[in-house]
Amino acid sequence: MNDIKAIRSSFFDFTRSVADPSELEGSARFIEDGLLLLKAGKIISLQSWNEAQARLDPRLEILHLPDNIIMPGFIDSHIHYPQTEMIGADGEQLLDWLDHYTFPTESQYHCPDRSAGMASFFLDQLLRNGTTTAMVYGTVHAQSVDALFAAAFERHMRLIAGKVMMDRHAPDALLETPGQSEEATRGLIARWHNKGRLSYALTPRFAPTSSPELLAVVGRLRREFPDLYLQTHLSENTQEVAWVKALFPERVNYFDVYRHHGLTGRKSVFAHCLHLDEQEWRDLAHSRSAIAFCPTSNLFLGSGLFDLQKKWDWRIPLGIGTDVGAGTTFNLLQTLAEAYKVGQLRGYRLSVYEGLYHATLGAAHALSLDGVLGNFAPGKEADFVVLDPRATPLQRLRQANSATLRERLFLLMILGDDRTIYQTWIQGKPVYRRDDDEIKQGA
Ligand code: GUN
Ligand code: ZN
Repeated sequence: MNDIKAIRSSFFDFTRSVADPSELEGSARFIEDGLLLLKAGKIISLQSWNEAQARLDPRLEILHLPDNIIMPGFIDSHIHYPQTEMIGADGEQLLDWLDHYTFPTESQYHCPDRSAGMASFFLDQLLRNGTTTAMVYGTVHAQSVDALFAAAFERHMRLIAGKVMMDRHAPDALLETPGQSEEATRGLIARWHNKGRLSYALTPRFAPTSSPELLAVVGRLRREFPDLYLQTHLSENTQEVAWVKALFPERVNYFDVYRHHGLTGRKSVFAHCLHLDEQEWRDLAHSRSAIAFCPTSNLFLGSGLFDLQKKWDWRIPLGIGTDVGAGTTFNLLQTLAEAYKVGQLRGYRLSVYEGLYHATLGAAHALSLDGVLGNFAPGKEADFVVLDPRATPLQRLRQANSATLRERLFLLMILGDDRTIYQTWIQGKPVYRRDDDEIKQGA
């Protein structure tokens, strides 16, 4: 029937953003047998099958997926695409890891062919893991971000990305002057910001690779283009925090380095936030900035254990991030399983509702995208993931002897991985199918 699509399956989402974890279960919606209607890449409605059936046009073709659960597409709030090719580098903590692995790898991205090849590989990895939107770092080279945006545009993905800005404490091949950084950033904003579903993020790497002059440039651009995003790292590693103190003695604390230059506020996303003092928590909350929590990275680099309770105490918007290549998986279910274990080590119980919220509507809220993404509300963009909770013999065994929805979802979060991702849809079209391999856009 013209261009309406109908999918019958089980559905899970959150109907509203919450300020307290006690509200999560009330915001969660599970429809065991539901019907999702789509048109022109947007959601028309989600209803129970019984409710929808009465008014259905008999000519409508219905895709029936009775063994699956469909959720809003996962949102990765922090990831570095050029680090895809160095994931799992052995045995270092942050600052040595940057010097030994990250900077040499990122130095190769002056090459447009390498950038294009890895951008394409990277986006396909996101899709095969059910991630439909991400907030992404390129390298210092503008061409790395041109390649990423071009590949995302081709796939009709909603993506936020930016060119890393850095002018000190890295190899010469990765350094620029504040003036060069500004010019290259302006060019990318003009070429890509608000083109289709793409948004630009100012991306000063972190305080140690930024002179005060560079941070002033970032602050000027932020004032000139208030609807841009901003992404950077904050308080990830204790040696890094001590270094920032030495580099910026005139600033009260690490957060103040960014705040002083006007880099905080709505649409600013700070990754990690592992070693903040009380004043930094308070100032971060008052600034209305968001946090990206990256558990696999924090464990892999031995950086620390994020304090989820503080997110709720201070009501700070938060998304979950893989932080590939310090993170060890593209898969947000595996990332949530590690978040749960971080909670265990801190005496914090991360419920499956909270985990899934941070990967969908909560992240959309943190990225100011909850008006267009994050759940199955009518009018939202039809990006979603079709999950197979029984993808392996072990999962089948375990799902069969779990009684409640909460148990079934918890197992999905703890045992799930890329095999769990049965299909990924972008703007109402399947772009990845586990069984068929990837199908190309427009098919
Ligand atoms: N801090 C500055 N740069 C990086 C990076 O590339 N990865 C991580 N995890 N932390 C950083
Ligand atoms: Zn990072």
